[in-house]
Amino acid sequence: MERVLQKLVHSSRMLHFLPKRRCLSNLSNKNFFITTPIFYVNASPHLGHLYTSLVADAAQRFQHLVSKSPSFLSTGTDEHGSKVQKAAGKIDTQLYCDQISNQYVEMLEMYGVDFSKFVRTTSTEHKRAVQAFWKKLEGKNLIYTGDYSGWYCEADEAFVPETRTEKLSDGARISSESGRPVEWTSEQNFLFKISAVKDDLLHWLKDKHVIQPRKFHDLVQLWVGEGFHDVSITRPSHRVPWGIPVPDHPGHSIYVWMDALINYLTVAGFPDTLQKWPVDVHVIGKDILRFHAILWPSLLIAAGLEPPKQIHCHSHWKVDSEKMSKSRGNVIDPRGEIRLKFTAEGLRYFLLREGTNHSDANFSETKVFNILNAELAGKLGNLLNRCTGKSLNPKQVWPVYVSGLVGDQYLVEALRELPDKTKQHYEDFNFYKAVDEVILVLQEANKFFEDQKPWTLQRDSAEMHSILSLTLETLRVVGIVLQPVIPKLTGQLLEKLDVPLENRYWADLKTFVWDKTSAEKTLQSQKLTLFPRLGDGK
Ligand code: MSP
Repeated sequence: MERVLQKLVHSSRMLHFLPKRRCLSNLSNKNFFITTPIFYVNASPHLGHLYTSLVADAAQRFQHLVSKSPSFLSTGTDEHGSKVQKAAGKIDTQLYCDQISNQYVEMLEMYGVDFSKFVRTTSTEHKRAVQAFWKKLEGKNLIYTGDYSGWYCEADEAFVPETRTEKLSDGARISSESGRPVEWTSEQNFLFKISAVKDDLLHWLKDKHVIQPRKFHDLVQLWVGEGFHDVSITRPSHRVPWGIPVPDHPGHSIYVWMDALINYLTVAGFPDTLQKWPVDVHVIGKDILRFHAILWPSLLIAAGLEPPKQIHCHSHWKVDSEKMSKSRGNVIDPRGEIRLKFTAEGLRYFLLREGTNHSDANFSETKVFNILNAELAGKLGNLLNRCTGKSLNPKQVWPVYVSGLVGDQYLVEALRELPDKTKQHYEDFNFYKAVDEVILVLQEANKFFEDQKPWTLQRDSAEMHSILSLTLETLRVVGIVLQPVIPKLTGQLLEKLDVPLENRYWADLKTFVWDKTSAEKTLQSQKLTLFPRLGDGK
């Protein structure tokens, strides 16, 4: 056992020496600051955690593509609270946190989530930030002590107003939102005077863009309309010892949600500095909207800091139409078997292609299997095989295109329109719509190829060259557009086409290859099977 623990300590230490690109000092010169929620360490990562991270990663990759300057993505783990302590069981709680936190890093790296900073709430820098934030609110007289009684949901680590609880037939009471048990709790706590910032919060909410999509903005308006109650922001430390102590009042631990939300400030260098504030986008799932859309901006406003520019909220993933839960035994760990079956890029594609913001999505292996075979192996992979196959393209070249020689009008137009059509979808975090547009173009290109029957033409004819050239151009355009969704596969594709790294930006979609050069180009000679068809055994 001791050896296992030592190994954990060692690997967690390693985490503090993150590669240079994960250096905080770079935040100030980044053009876009986006965050994921920080993940609870009371259990291992699952598909929902991966999805939230992919949404943020795809968004930052898109911003980079458009602006050419790097974005900053922060993520991390939420490690305090009684749930975590309970989950640690007999293991030392900090060692347990190190272990699970490492699992999140592992998942993110496996799936190509290019984070700039991984923050942990048990780190010294974060504890300092939380305590400094507390002092700031205290200095503004926005914290007071009071006897607090209410329904407390330990699983959600939150007090729930009675109107949002339900009494079951056996007399027990649950939170109507999460379905988890609540208990009547009376204790002396510190409270945050949220009512003092109510008007400023309402002013911030006036801009309909701050919470996206609109459906969630409307929901927040509804909640706000129900009225404001000051919020308990501590728990007695004998009940929640695994937490950050209130400065000068060690008998109280800071409320885990307040602790967790401040992670975004820690990342920005608070309290010593505040780089690139406010955050451009907080990506969150719908279950944590209330904390991010009401408590968080209120805390920031109260501290005299700017609330976020935008909160982007997404819906959830179910598995085979059921909510993921330990008791159902249907929780999918993205680091496990599923990745071996479908590959990390395959799953990345599926989740971003099928997930929507407005309603829950459903994960079924059959669906993954069918979509990956039809679209990645089929439409995209096939097109590449067609124009780089040895029989039609023995010299592995990108031949010269002659406009109007073949029936190409429709495809050329579709390629010209693709960047504008997909840009808006990316900006709205509607990745599935962007992919839809790409698939339509690929369908068109495959049809074009079949209709032209290049295999019936003379190998070195101008018609043959034009068909190959236009098909390769389709792959270049699609390869650039799909980079936020499948960065590794598109990297391989663009490499095969010999597109230099500096020519893989959104601006490079403006000109077709033949507008830049009238010479034949060479492809990389190595054969590339982009996405091998998945076997029927799944
Ligand atoms: N620790 C808090 C967040 C604090 S942020 C200041 C938390 N952690 S969590 O691990 O429970 O959830 C992290 C994210 O995963 C949330 O955005 C949540 O919505 C998301 N998901 C959890 N289950 C999910 C699905 N089944 N589907 C999609 N996302 C889901 O909440």
